Amino acid sequence: MPTSMTMVETVVRSMARTAAENEEYFCQLDSVVGDGDFGFSLARGFEKVMEEFDAIDRKDPGTFLKKVGLIITSRCGGTSGPLWGTGFLRAGTAAGDRSELAATDAIAMLQAALDGIQKRGGAALGDKTLLDALAPMIACFTAELAAGTEPHAAFAAAAEATEAAAQKTTELVARRGRASYTGERSRGSPDAGAMAVALMARNVSAACRP
Ligand SMILES: Nc1ncnc2c1ncn2[C@@H]1O[C@H](COP(=O)(O)OP(=O)(O)OP(=O)(O)O)[C@@H](O)[C@H]1O
Ligand SMILES: [Mg+2]
Repeated sequence: MPTSMTMVETVVRSMARTAAENEEYFCQLDSVVGDGDFGFSLARGFEKVMEEFDAIDRKDPGTFLKKVGLIITSRCGGTSGPLWGTGFLRAGTAAGDRSELAATDAIAMLQAALDGIQKRGGAALGDKTLLDALAPMIACFTAELAAGTEPHAAFAAAAEATEAAAQKTTELVARRGRASYTGERSRGSPDAGAMAVALMARNVSAACRP
């Protein structure tokens, strides 16, 4: 069994790789309705995290995640820096100083990240943002665990639900961020942030496979 610290490192590394490998794709998605900088912003933020990765304080997973949040906020531009930085900061705060985290802790951390992003950005569900992928992820993960599914399989199911939810943002009209300036034209392609969350969930699930 990997320790929680190792798991958290794997999660962050996998998210960073997803941002790096999909920089162009995420920019393309953002350029359909927004200003096309999302992939660039996300990749630069996670690139900096990987540059500093080995030196980040590993006192406990919470401390590690809070530091990741600070790095992302300091490097990642535009709207995404504060939003993703807040997500990591809140998840780290929810983990507290526990050295071992259970699946229920992971849910509390994801929920804290979502609450923080929602408060910071003021978006509601259905506004065609990354929240429309993150909320169904948490709901599915919670339901699977409650049904007795073992944690990894529960997260794998949640990752699938996240992808389906991200695809469904295609039907929505953007009400937040620069994409909202395009109104009805934003219908017809999936939200870039939601797709990033979905691809990250898929890759994290694969990377954490026992
Ligand atoms: N207020 C918000 N709350 C939650 N997510 C948001 C919000 N605004 C934008 N997003 C997410 O961020 C993605 C775009 O990120 P990006 O950093 O490109 O922001 P932006 O709105 O284009 O603004 P800017 O380019 O000025 O930073 C969207 O696809 C959406 O998922
Ligand atoms: Mg943008």
